[in-house]
Amino acid sequence: MPKIRCNGREIDAPANATVAAMLPPLPGPLCAMGVCMGCRVTIDGRPHQLACQTLVRDGMEVTTP
Ligand code: FES
Repeated sequence: MPKIRCNGREIDAPANATVAAMLPPLPGPLCAMGVCMGCRVTIDGRPHQLACQTLVRDGMEVTTP
């Protein structure tokens, strides 16, 4: 089971889950299809990554706006 860190908090994530599924509610509209851009987060220091289109990886660091 991958462990990710979200805003400094460690989370056990199911394999093959998207980052968006592991996050607290985000401010924008959420299409879950990579269209609305409402799920942008910083992943491992890279800004503007789409949480709904990114699968969790063990050790991933996620920061929400
Ligand atoms: S939820 Fe719309 S782009 Fe990710």
